[in-house]
Amino acid sequence: MKGLYIHIPFCQSICTYCDFAKEIATPKKQANYIDALIQEFHGYKEEHKALTTIYIGGGTPSALKNDDLDRLLATIYDHISMQTIEEYTVECNPNDVTVEKAKLLKKYGVNRISLGVQTFNDHHLKFINRDHREADIYQALTILREVGFDNISLDMMFGLVGQTLDELNDDLQKVIRLNPNHISYYSLILEEATPLFYLVNKGQVTMIDDDLEGSMYETVMDTLIEAKYAQYEISNFAKKDYASKHNTIYWKNDDYVGIGASSHGKLNNKRYANIRSVKRYIESVASRGMPENTSYPYEPLRDYLLMGLRLLEGVSLDAIKERFDVDLLEHYPKLNPMLEQGFLTIEQNHLKFTRRGLLLGNDVFVLF
Ligand SMILES: C[S@@+](CC[C@H](N)C(=O)[O-])C[C@H]1O[C@@H](n2cnc3c(N)ncnc32)[C@H](O)[C@@H]1O
Ligand code: SF4
Repeated sequence: MKGLYIHIPFCQSICTYCDFAKEIATPKKQANYIDALIQEFHGYKEEHKALTTIYIGGGTPSALKNDDLDRLLATIYDHISMQTIEEYTVECNPNDVTVEKAKLLKKYGVNRISLGVQTFNDHHLKFINRDHREADIYQALTILREVGFDNISLDMMFGLVGQTLDELNDDLQKVIRLNPNHISYYSLILEEATPLFYLVNKGQVTMIDDDLEGSMYETVMDTLIEAKYAQYEISNFAKKDYASKHNTIYWKNDDYVGIGASSHGKLNNKRYANIRSVKRYIESVASRGMPENTSYPYEPLRDYLLMGLRLLEGVSLDAIKERFDVDLLEHYPKLNPMLEQGFLTIEQNHLKFTRRGLLLGNDVFVLF
C-alpha cells in the first residue's frame, strides 16, 4: 500500500495558530507552483502504479483557482489508475466550496473531503482569524452533499483561547448533528513563530490550563464515543469502515510519496523532506527537475513506535519481534514504569495507551 500526499501551501487568510507551510500568494505564483508540482509528480512514475490513496492537503487546496486545480487533478487522473485508488481526499475550507469547485473535485475521482471547520463559534472563529463563520459551514456541507460527496471528515479544534467547556459541548453537538463519517479533533498547540505565540509571550492572551485541556479532551472522547464514533487514533474518530486509509499509511509506517513544498515522504526505508520555501521549491524544480530536499535519518523501530502508538489498537509485540528482532520491553526499559503507572497497557500482546496515557499525550513520546 502506498499513499501520495500533495501539499498546496496557499490560504485565503492566515490563522493565528498555524505553523504549516502556507502563504497568501499571487495568482501567478500559484500557477507557477502548480507547474512545478506537476513536474515533480512526473518524477515518481514508478510509484504511481502502487498507489492506493491520494491526499491533497495544505495550506488550503480549495483556495486554488479552478483552472489551477483542474490542471493538477487532470494530471493525476491521466497518470494514475483510479481503479486502484481506495481513498482520494482533498482538504477544503468552507468559504471556498462552490458548486463549480465541488463538481470539479467529483469529476476527477475525489471521493473524500476534509472540511476545516475548527469551531462553530463565530467569536472564536474571528479570534483565530478564520475567514468563515458558522453559517458558511452549513452552506459548504449542503453543497458538498448535493454534489454527491458522502464521505466527509470535519477538522475541529479544542482548547482555543478562552474557550469554555459549554462552548466545546455546543461545538460537539453541532458536529454530531451534521453526521460526518469522520472527525479529527485536535488540541490547540502553541507553535513558535505564530501570531498566537507572540500574543501569549507578550502576555496579551493566555492559553487554557492543563486541567481544562484534559477535561476537554475527555469530553471530546466521551461525547463522540457516545455518539457511536470509534476513536481509532489520539485525535481521530470514525464511523465503522471510515478510518482514514491515507493517514493509516503514516501510522502503520508504510511507504508514501510526498510532493510539494515542505512535503515529507518515506520510500524504501528512506525518509525525505522537501524544501519548505515555496519560492525555492519552484526555482529548484525549474532548474533541476526535482525540488531541493533533505534525506533524514530513519530509525525503523523508533518510527514504528512513534507512529504506531498513536493508533488506539497499539503496536503488536509479536510483529515487533518478527520485524526488528527485539523484545520491546527489554529494548526500552523506560516503558516498564509507564506500564506500572497505568499509562500504557498490554492487551492481546499489543502495547497501547490507556485513557490515562492518552491524557498524558505527547509526554510519552519523549521516551523513544
Ligand atoms: C494545516 S490545516 C490544513 C487544512 C485547512 N487549511 C484548515 O485549516 O482546515 C490542517 C489541520 O491542522 C490543524 N492545526 C493546524 N495548526 C494547529 C495547531 N497549532 N494546533 C492544533 N491543530 C492545528 C487544524 O485543525 C487544521 O484543520
Ligand atoms: S490552519 Fe489551514 S487555513 Fe489556517 S493558515 Fe493553516 S493551513 Fe491555512
